[in-house]
Amino acid sequence: MAGPPQSTPSVLIARRLLPAGRERLAAECEIREGGLDAAPERLRELAPGVAAIVADPTVTVDGGLLDAAGERLQVVANFAVGYDGIDLESCRRRGVAVTNTPDVLTNATAELALALTLAAARRTTDAEADLRAGRWTGWDPGAHLGLELSGATFAVVGLGRIGRRYAELVRPAAGEILYVARRPKPDAERELRATRVKLEDALRRAHVVSLHAPATPETRNMIGSAELAAMRPEAVLINTARGSLVDSAALAAALREGGIASAGLDVYEDEPAVPAELLEAPRCVLLPHIGSATRRARDAMASMVADNVLAVLRGEEPPNRVV
Ligand code: DGY
Repeated sequence: MAGPPQSTPSVLIARRLLPAGRERLAAECEIREGGLDAAPERLRELAPGVAAIVADPTVTVDGGLLDAAGERLQVVANFAVGYDGIDLESCRRRGVAVTNTPDVLTNATAELALALTLAAARRTTDAEADLRAGRWTGWDPGAHLGLELSGATFAVVGLGRIGRRYAELVRPAAGEILYVARRPKPDAERELRATRVKLEDALRRAHVVSLHAPATPETRNMIGSAELAAMRPEAVLINTARGSLVDSAALAAALREGGIASAGLDVYEDEPAVPAELLEAPRCVLLPHIGSATRRARDAMASMVADNVLAVLRGEEPPNRVV
């Protein structure tokens, strides 16, 4: 005899999930969608009774949203590797699993960090803006002089998956590679000839400092005016991790005053707001959080979200559990 009818679980996609994941969820679940501009109040309206919430780096999953979802909620699946917008403790207390999408965006994000490194070091944004604005009056021996990366010292701050891949990508050009990490990474030391140093040392020595640390209370403003003052005047700062790592007012001042040569940023503390001082700062390449934005990475991330949600709903261990 057939058992009692199973109700179809509901999934709240807080903003947007690409078809590679959405279609798989829609085949087994009722889908509710906040859309790209969903405000927190709208998400709370949509949440009651859902079994899963699909979040992304712009979504705050706090006690209010978890309460609104209620007791049926089993999993918060993040469509990103960084999960700083999710209140892990509240999820843990409620027995709600949290998952993310590691690995599949490592290449894309490290490659974007490399693109920003090249663009900031060679000032390609300023140079192109001059050309487009008709300010280019001919080959000029002293114009747009940048930093040559061959033989440069690179500092990778946070040698997780993405930091490690960035170090691999720059290895052929780099002179020294320094890294800052809580624990030594013997593999990286052997394979990449990387040397573990303290942050102060890395800042003092490196021509390129690339940030790959997660956003935590400890990493907030880890690069502020004192750290920028410690850097070489010809140094380049790259941030593809999280905006909260860098004090943007201090960075803008360092760029204006020539404390460092240039910066390349993909992330900001209060996205999509970009601090006015950064928009106005010289020699600063600014991108709109596109680190993982390759077709391959985003499709794989979306599919991984579906894997995680469906595993939890089937009572299985999700492949990418954080909590
Ligand atoms: C992440 O995965 O955390 C990124 O910021 C999204 O691309």
